[in-house]
Amino acid sequence: MENTPLLYDPAVFVVGRDYQIIFLTETRGLGWIEIEGERYTDEEAGLLYYGTVHKIPVTGDVLNRARAYTVVFVEYADKKPYYPEGIEKVRRKYVFRPLEGEKYRIFHFADTHARTKTPLELYERTGDCDLIVLNGDINEHSYEIENFHTAFILASGSAHGERPVIYSRGNHDTRGYAAQDLVNYIPTAFRGGRRETFYSFRQGSLWGLVLDCGEDKYDTNVEYGGTILFDTFRRRETEYLRSVIANKAEEYEADGVKTKIAICHVPFVEHFQFPFDVADDVYEEWTRLLDEIGIDLLLCGHMHRAYLIPAHTAEKRNASFPTAVCSIPGVKDEDGGEHYVGGLIEVDGGHRVVKYIPGGEDWTF
Ligand SMILES: [Fe+2]
Repeated sequence: MENTPLLYDPAVFVVGRDYQIIFLTETRGLGWIEIEGERYTDEEAGLLYYGTVHKIPVTGDVLNRARAYTVVFVEYADKKPYYPEGIEKVRRKYVFRPLEGEKYRIFHFADTHARTKTPLELYERTGDCDLIVLNGDINEHSYEIENFHTAFILASGSAHGERPVIYSRGNHDTRGYAAQDLVNYIPTAFRGGRRETFYSFRQGSLWGLVLDCGEDKYDTNVEYGGTILFDTFRRRETEYLRSVIANKAEEYEADGVKTKIAICHVPFVEHFQFPFDVADDVYEEWTRLLDEIGIDLLLCGHMHRAYLIPAHTAEKRNASFPTAVCSIPGVKDEDGGEHYVGGLIEVDGGHRVVKYIPGGEDWTF
């Protein structure tokens, strides 16, 4: 973006019925969102956050009604203990189109592994979608904080700050020194004193779950050098799924819900072989809980392949829902180039299809 510290269009992430609008700036300062004259900030303990990452919680009903928001950034070259001085550098209005009604399209990016050009070329060819999903392994790893820009380049290049975005973390995103800082750059739910990367969401007639498997091998694997504790994390996630079922009247049985999807980087209905056979008992339980919820589709990446697992497929976990695995980072073309394979969900009333693109056939679910 020329002549502005705003690096990309903001990403309007969906969490629950609300949004978390995140935008990055080249210089340090304070950022906030204005909707119909009301100011929404990242204030915590009375302080507006000073820095280059601005994560602003916004009430869903308010933005859905207003259908527009204004991004404001005030640059402070320094934040002195006395008399810091700010200069307003950004005040930009965006229209916003929430997913509404029963006819919509969802675009699925996963396993881009730091690519942005070929995935966005695919999006361009596909045409505008109502909801964008970033489903993990957007980068190779989290060893450099700059890697986190990739998700914003993809969100900005597809949603343009005007459409809602779902973010689901992948196993590669958990690797490297900056992995612990990723929660500042992505939407999170706050529970029990922690920022969590799994939660439900609601957009129009669509209800969904964002799930996070964490790493794909045992916590004790030498590759991680003792830095992770996903066993504990996944058990907390199981408890969360049980709490969603206990609260179903306000979750998936709420008025107007027509379609229920779960989004998870790893297709945990697969039986993986050692050393990838981690959390077998947990994934059996998640499959059972998603059955109880009556999930219509599980949408995944991770495998660098594109295929559908129908409900009750032999040699998979016995799920009553189908799983669509829809992402291949780079498919070689005859001319020596490569293209990206992503996923597309199209809903038109009771008619619902998912397919990998390009080249996939419609799978009804
Ligand atoms: Fe992966």
